[in-house]
Amino acid sequence: MNKHDSERIAGMLESLGNLEVGTIEESDVVIYMTCCVREAADVRLYGQAASIKNIPLRKNSPFDKRIVCVGGCIGQRDGNTLIDKVSNINVVFGTHNIGNLPALIDKAKDDNVVEILERSENFPTDLPTKRDNFWAAWLPIMIGCNNFCSYCIVPYVRGREKSRPMQDIIDEAIQYKEQGVKELTLLGQNVNSYDHGKFYELLCEIDKIGFDRLRFATSHPKDISDNVIKAFGTLKSLQPQLHLPVQSGSNRILKEMNRRYTAEHYLGLIDKLRNVNPDIALSTDIIVGFPGESEDDFMDTYNLIDKVGYTQVFSFIYSRREGTPAAKIPDDTPKEVIQDRFNRLVDLIAKRAYEINQKDKDTIVDVLFEGESKKDKSIQTGKTPKGQTVHVKGKNLAGQIKKVQIDECKTWYLTGQIL
Ligand code: 5AD
Ligand code: SF4
Repeated sequence: MNKHDSERIAGMLESLGNLEVGTIEESDVVIYMTCCVREAADVRLYGQAASIKNIPLRKNSPFDKRIVCVGGCIGQRDGNTLIDKVSNINVVFGTHNIGNLPALIDKAKDDNVVEILERSENFPTDLPTKRDNFWAAWLPIMIGCNNFCSYCIVPYVRGREKSRPMQDIIDEAIQYKEQGVKELTLLGQNVNSYDHGKFYELLCEIDKIGFDRLRFATSHPKDISDNVIKAFGTLKSLQPQLHLPVQSGSNRILKEMNRRYTAEHYLGLIDKLRNVNPDIALSTDIIVGFPGESEDDFMDTYNLIDKVGYTQVFSFIYSRREGTPAAKIPDDTPKEVIQDRFNRLVDLIAKRAYEINQKDKDTIVDVLFEGESKKDKSIQTGKTPKGQTVHVKGKNLAGQIKKVQIDECKTWYLTGQIL
């Protein structure tokens, strides 16, 4: 969502005649789009914003000073504190008012400015976007979250759930299709609760537009409906890939997390999905070291991960977020114990991902290419329908879909030859 908001900001500022530059040295304005879901991101923002203080403004800048802006979730949460703590920050804006940023930058030429709104007046999607690439687009269908998982700061900084009108979403999707977009990803903190149960209807409408690839993120296991599960077997453009965050395999911890499902319910969903498509690629999020997590609780998570078999797992060590209910739960689990659990889980995740990828050896898959590998310019990388990364020898394939014969399957990527 933050990356998408950044594309909106870039689009808006470019439409007003500004240019994106590659380095801080060349810039007149710096904008940090921030996340506060875990502490590490918090620390990084405060450090980075302060660290650019002594970089001089370019010689022919029309500005008297470099304007440093902080937006996104840390902006929404910290407001004035940011300016008090980091003296070179000039603008703080939040998650609900990215459309006002050009005006705020203008005001900041005279004096520092903080503007935080409690809720969005309109959907930010009416703003122009500057997409990172021409073949893929993100489309927010809703903003905010009503779930209040006990560890999570998101509902406090992104506000309550608000769905965008279906026709607006369809119109924007049609525009993307006309612009040559091949892969569309529908976005929201909890897409399955789109407009009180209309997510399946929306998926069907978007499928009709005929993208090569349609994906969505993120799903909450308590809200994913049977017809959305069935859609993985019926909708032509919907890719065989689903991110379904489980967070924990322990029912006791799930209850403490306020997730409102059990491990059994979650495994039931996995069975239904695999009945529709046995080869569907699944990924998840896990929190290790939630306050009071015992070794038995952890082993429930470990066994669930082993059982499901994910192509990708994003695992996080619990990070205490002030203001959330979980921050009040006492915890005496030593840091080393949590780190050891995390390491064991990371090993298991890699072992299972490697095993699962072996199924694709010697198959032919459609790969949507993204460009050359950062490490080796003779290699082009792309994604399979299941979302696995593929490396092939080649040149200038960005944005193209090609058939690739897979010859090797590693843990985190596959290699092959273009047919
Ligand atoms: N600590 C650690 N991980 C968290 N997440 C959300 N809040 C926290 C927290 N306080 C993780 C969840 C979520 C993902 C986006 O970030 O796993 O699914
Ligand atoms: Fe946070 Fe839970 Fe909402 Fe996801 S569903 S954003 S984890 S409160």
